[in-house]
Amino acid sequence: VSGQRQLLRGRVLNFHADPVNEADTEAYDYFADGALIVADGKIEAIGDYDALKQPGLTEVDHRPHLLMAGFIDTHIHFPQVQVVASWGDQLLDWLNNYTFPEEVRFADQGHADAMARAFFDLLTSHGTTTAMSFCSVHAGSADAYFTEAARRNMCMIGGKVMMDRNAPDGLRDTPRSGYDDSKALIDRWHGRGRAHYAITPRFSITSTPEQMEMAGALATEHPDCFVQTHLSENKDEIAFTKSLYPQARDYLDVYERYGLVGPKTFLGHAIHLEDREIASLAERGAHPVFCPTSNLFLGSGLFDDGGLREQGITNAIATDIGAGTSYSMLQTLNEGYKVLQLQGQKLHPLRAFHWITRGNAVAMGMQDRIGTLHAGTDADIVVLNTSATDAMALRSQRAETLSEELFILQIMGDDRSVEQVYVAGRAQKGVDLPPARALR
Ligand code: GUN
Ligand code: ZN
Repeated sequence: VSGQRQLLRGRVLNFHADPVNEADTEAYDYFADGALIVADGKIEAIGDYDALKQPGLTEVDHRPHLLMAGFIDTHIHFPQVQVVASWGDQLLDWLNNYTFPEEVRFADQGHADAMARAFFDLLTSHGTTTAMSFCSVHAGSADAYFTEAARRNMCMIGGKVMMDRNAPDGLRDTPRSGYDDSKALIDRWHGRGRAHYAITPRFSITSTPEQMEMAGALATEHPDCFVQTHLSENKDEIAFTKSLYPQARDYLDVYERYGLVGPKTFLGHAIHLEDREIASLAERGAHPVFCPTSNLFLGSGLFDDGGLREQGITNAIATDIGAGTSYSMLQTLNEGYKVLQLQGQKLHPLRAFHWITRGNAVAMGMQDRIGTLHAGTDADIVVLNTSATDAMALRSQRAETLSEELFILQIMGDDRSVEQVYVAGRAQKGVDLPPARALR
């Protein structure tokens, strides 16, 4: 029951800022024998166990495991749960040969509902408590998504994809229907419970200028909604985009022209950027999203995290399932570490764990609600076992510092390390969900 007041005991790690290294103790708190008091779906208190224990208060003992804020995945495609691990192609062929045919199936409401249940089970079992997802072109897929999120009381962001060209029959809307369906979904879901809407023009190739115009109108009419799309993932994609929008100065300019680039805009991939695009992203406060498992899987390229950060850009990080290959934000950090290694950049484990929690929340402007364990925020919590496998346990015997232990988790961890997940204070593993409510 989310209303029940209880104390969770374990090692507790909580971030206040983006840490430079382990010595940067201003940026985080670590309680070796720590506790959280959770009540009414919120964190009521965080601190040492001895300071927080109270007679009569229910305790859940998670020792020796590590409690931190639930993971946030800022770019994922819910209709691609059956696309993951599709062989051989790079972006445009991968979309045409595998992804679009799969997304067509989401016209069937029963299929969309079933896949939404599976999708949320997978997010939760991997420790992800908030995601920003693309749905399919069908409004019903977004209804399936938000209905399932509401049933679990999860803070979820999503939107129906707008796409009106260069896609097969059954997977195109029109400028008018894309606008009307999106608007109806915003009215139905945005701000309802923990739901947020993201206006979702898929990318330049699949939207006509007329549709981009309508997407821009939605963004202007609903400034509190997010905008999500894709940017400069693949060289063939960029060339095709430039041929479709010959007046645009560069790829980002397509979105800029239609008023789609601001602090609530999330741009998947953003790998092959020109200097003007980087300057504009910084000026407008928009967020490139690093999707390492996807970028390696599709052979798209190497995301320049350090270079973009130097320009004052706040990058997000995400799985990008189904081009991404794991639902785990830990595995995403593992591959992310390697992508940065290839460019001579370093991802410190404390920075890494900040990124998949508070860092992504800051990019979304939601750090007052999610991404930390501060008192007053929503009780979305992951409980992590840093010795979940034989290989991890053996390696952990030689770990002496918190950073070393976190790095083992970052490199070797996955869903096997997720012992428990709390969503708005309610345990998700080993408990039955409430029955589906008629929300539509
Ligand atoms: N660009 C446009 N659509 C997609 C998609 O579904 N996945 C990826 N990785 N890139 C895209
Ligand atoms: Zn994507």
